[in-house]
Amino acid sequence: MTMRAVVKGVGHYLPTRVVPNSEFEGKVETSDEWIRARTGIERRHFAADGETTSDLAAHAARAALVDAGLEPADLDAIIVATSTPDLTFPSVATMVQAKIGMTNGFAFDVQAVCAGFVFALANANALILSGQARRVLVIGAETFSRILDFEDRSTCVLFGDGAGALLLEAGEGQGTNADRGILATDLHSDGSYRDLLYVDGGVSTTGAAGHLRMQGNQIFRQAVEKLTETAHAALDKVALNGSDVDWIVPHQANIRIIEGTAKRMQVPMERVVVTVQDHGNTSAASIPLALSVGKARGQIKQGDLLVTEAIGGGLAWGAVVLRW
Ligand code: UT7
Repeated sequence: MTMRAVVKGVGHYLPTRVVPNSEFEGKVETSDEWIRARTGIERRHFAADGETTSDLAAHAARAALVDAGLEPADLDAIIVATSTPDLTFPSVATMVQAKIGMTNGFAFDVQAVCAGFVFALANANALILSGQARRVLVIGAETFSRILDFEDRSTCVLFGDGAGALLLEAGEGQGTNADRGILATDLHSDGSYRDLLYVDGGVSTTGAAGHLRMQGNQIFRQAVEKLTETAHAALDKVALNGSDVDWIVPHQANIRIIEGTAKRMQVPMERVVVTVQDHGNTSAASIPLALSVGKARGQIKQGDLLVTEAIGGGLAWGAVVLRW
């Protein structure tokens, strides 16, 4: 018998305010046509005044618990992937703990920007496989609208707010790639790319939150290559390849990156979960949002082989192979 971290439930939450591309026209020199053609984005959600990352995360957490048929007290741990916490500390994860009424176990945040959910999944998997936790709620939650420079057309049209949550539970498998649960993880980072994507503020520099700065076309150049490599590396670890994949569930930054990666992996777009048109880039929330929406649409079914892959600030990137 082999221990596996198996999906028990999934859920998501999007703030009620929907912002169509047309809202940016007239504020910056852009157009709905440019945004759609270059990114695939049609709309995104922005959090209301006073609505925080932990609020979005707690809604997603409750939805995943309902989906799993479990109570907060059944959890051993919560990991939140976020780069837009409510406060410098305590962690968003402990705030979620309090909001859902969980006083047992432990909770902490992971910060790997857009790759955050993949890093958090790998951490949750390690906690389960090492016997430190049996049930882990892994959340990606962001309010990127709070760090956007609304005078910078090259970034403000790209991002949105939201949260998604995946509940993992220890289960027993046969030790083969036919098992349900997380089968392989592959993580990377290279800090020499720092200046391609960063926020120009922080606690120990300006003392203020700052604004997102990105050399988008430079990231674009890195993205397709690194995402394809990491997805293949994760699949290789369990002797699988693109033709075995039922669904790529990619980080949702740009439809052209998603299409380029799928093409290199020789996976047709019919087997890719795409939500970028409705959510924009929600950083660490984008993959769990896509998992939850993909299941709700009837795309992702039990037994399907999934590959998630993401890249973001750091640079940090990685992939997780799991059977739903
Ligand atoms: O999730 C974290 C990782 N981030 C990403 O994955 C983002 C990766 N990058 C991208 O998605 C794309 O690079 C962008 C969508 C950010 C930009 O698309 P692009 O095709 O790489 O365009 P570009 O940056 O090369 O800019 C082309 C032109 C420029 O004008 P000039 O210099 O050719 O006159 C930009 O100034 O498009 C201009 N431009 C815009 N025009 C209208 C940039 N933003 C806008 C805009 N509206 N919002």
